Amino acid sequence: MPKHDFPAGFLWGVATSAAQIEGGRREGGRGDSIWDRFAALPGNIADGSVPDVACDHYHRWREDVALMKWLGLGGYRFSIAWPRVFPEGRGRVNVPGLDFYDALVDALLEAGIQPCPTLYHWDLPQALQEAGGWGERDTAEAFAQFATVVARRLGDRVRHWTTVNEPWCAATLGHEEGKHAPGRCDPAEALRAGHHLLLAHGLATAAIRREVRAAQLGIVLIHCPAHAASDSAADRDAARWFDGFFNRWYLDPVFRGDYPADALADRVALGHLPAPELPCVKEGDLALIAAPLDFLGLNYYSRAVVRAGPHQRPVDARGAPPAELTDMGWEVYPQGLHESLLRIHREYRPRRIYVTENGAAYTDRSDARGRIADARRIAYLRAHLLAARRAIADGVPLAGYFVWSLLDNFEWGFGYTKQFGLYAVEPETLRRIPKDSAFWYRDVVSANAVPDQPAPQTRGESRASEP
Ligand code: FCB
Repeated sequence: MPKHDFPAGFLWGVATSAAQIEGGRREGGRGDSIWDRFAALPGNIADGSVPDVACDHYHRWREDVALMKWLGLGGYRFSIAWPRVFPEGRGRVNVPGLDFYDALVDALLEAGIQPCPTLYHWDLPQALQEAGGWGERDTAEAFAQFATVVARRLGDRVRHWTTVNEPWCAATLGHEEGKHAPGRCDPAEALRAGHHLLLAHGLATAAIRREVRAAQLGIVLIHCPAHAASDSAADRDAARWFDGFFNRWYLDPVFRGDYPADALADRVALGHLPAPELPCVKEGDLALIAAPLDFLGLNYYSRAVVRAGPHQRPVDARGAPPAELTDMGWEVYPQGLHESLLRIHREYRPRRIYVTENGAAYTDRSDARGRIADARRIAYLRAHLLAARRAIADGVPLAGYFVWSLLDNFEWGFGYTKQFGLYAVEPETLRRIPKDSAFWYRDVVSANAVPDQPAPQTRGESRASEP
């Protein structure tokens, strides 16, 4: 295999999520999600925006499928909005909500693109939040009902399923740090939420297996290698602490059926738990959570460099020498993707891995001729793809890669201020405008390889065939 080629059959895709692109907040019988409510409260979203319209994918999905077809993609990772299917979170099914995804799946298949839905990408129905949300075990049960109904409707055509996206973010940012919906700041509730999200994954796994014989199933976890700022024992312990709570807290239950003992002890030391065990774990939960999966979805953006801070908690210690950062303030660290893939392969042995998200936020405006020259995004993607390619050569069963994201979209607490898209979305018209990275990625996909030179200009001919 030539140096930058990928294996035959490698799945090239892009990823999005419902709350970030769909809009159509009050259409087709949809109920509110926790993000609708959270965004409406002043101060929660950096630019004061709300996701009511977002990229208007709810109306423009045909056009978006055409963009993906033009990119030549083999797969599209999107999420299914729970409140579109169950406006009250459970009970009554809203058929028009299911119809929307049914039509999307058909259009994708017709375009030769494999639909890869995620069932939970953070948009919990508000009605369930009012009953306690992820702090309550019942929410995981309701999720299993949602998974069953969706799998029953789409399972004749959809094979590739993921259950929950990044439970760390949903639990910690949403329930401990208050930065994400539902905006709670209660560490004990965050621990319960984390467990119930994993339980939801386990219950949904069982439900999808029942409904769809040929299902290929996984969970999506974010992974962030934790590096110590110095060789001191205290800094190394801070890195262990970070890794325990960010990475192993989810990897261990899913692949080993247990929470990491050292990280449980850290929570006791912090006063978040009375003893090194989670009171919300009931008998049988961990067996459900650890049921065999077909693959792991890995989201990778950056690494953490930490040193020991007050109360044993690690603190961010980047900056000397100053690292290259994206607009999110995240260090560009492509070798961390190689490191993450190897670590997960060696320590957890998932059958296959997909990079289900990787990408970078940069602001690049269009020039007088309408061109958006996002050379930094191309360099970021290129370096990460080369790291992924090296991991494959080192034996990692990496089967596909999805760019985050197709479109500039609603970036949670940052609103529309952070742009990850291969396509810009013009604010007034919502027109999609391809950036140079869209042309570049299209070339990568069609060659099944990373081109030798960074950021080649592929404008002329490619642009002529743009949809
Ligand atoms: C991930 C999320 C995704 C997007 C990217 C930038 O953590 O899964 O929705 O916000 O970060």
